[in-house]
Amino acid sequence: MASIAKDVVIRRALQEDFEAVLSIGEMYGGRDYLKALYLPFIENKDTYAVVATIQDAVVGFSMTTTFDGGLTVMSRASRVHEKFRGLGIYHMMKEELEKHTRLKSKAHNLVVNCDCGKANPEYSEDV
Ligand SMILES: CC(C)(COP(=O)(O)OP(=O)(O)OC[C@H]1O[C@@H](n2cnc3c(N)ncnc32)[C@H](O)[C@@H]1OP(=O)(O)O)[C@@H](O)C(=O)NCCC(=O)NCCS
Repeated sequence: MASIAKDVVIRRALQEDFEAVLSIGEMYGGRDYLKALYLPFIENKDTYAVVATIQDAVVGFSMTTTFDGGLTVMSRASRVHEKFRGLGIYHMMKEELEKHTRLKSKAHNLVVNCDCGKANPEYSEDV
């Protein structure tokens, strides 16, 4: 992992982080649902959302939602500012989400990621 790790703080996302999280950049070809759902996600007791910060500036966001009475945990809406990609910041957020999952849910370390086309080889922008 690049040496930037020591400057990155992963903490729980707050309502007040809304603007900063949206400022990370445009995602999913303009079809980003996070603007509409950020506050409900933060208020949802089944959601655990984190931000990655560098010198207090938000550079990353990721979250999990628990379903099926705690048996299924899904991560989604993940993003890292373009300038800071490829440095391990997503991995750091994922590590925290997995730690939280192991502590809080019956799903142990199961984190199913299904918010991107990469997860489904059949996915196409044309569908
Ligand atoms: C995907 C994203 C969050 C990765 O952030 P990052 O901080 O650059 O990621 P890291 O440096 O921690 O690690 C890069 C890893 O992410 C993986 N990755 C890249 N795109 C991915 C995606 N869409 N879904 C899951 N993993 C992805 C890479 O394969 C790499 O894995 P490796 O280290 O095992 O080779 C970032 O590229 C991003 O914001 N993309 C635009 C938004 C997006 O597509 N979000 C969907 C995420 S599921």
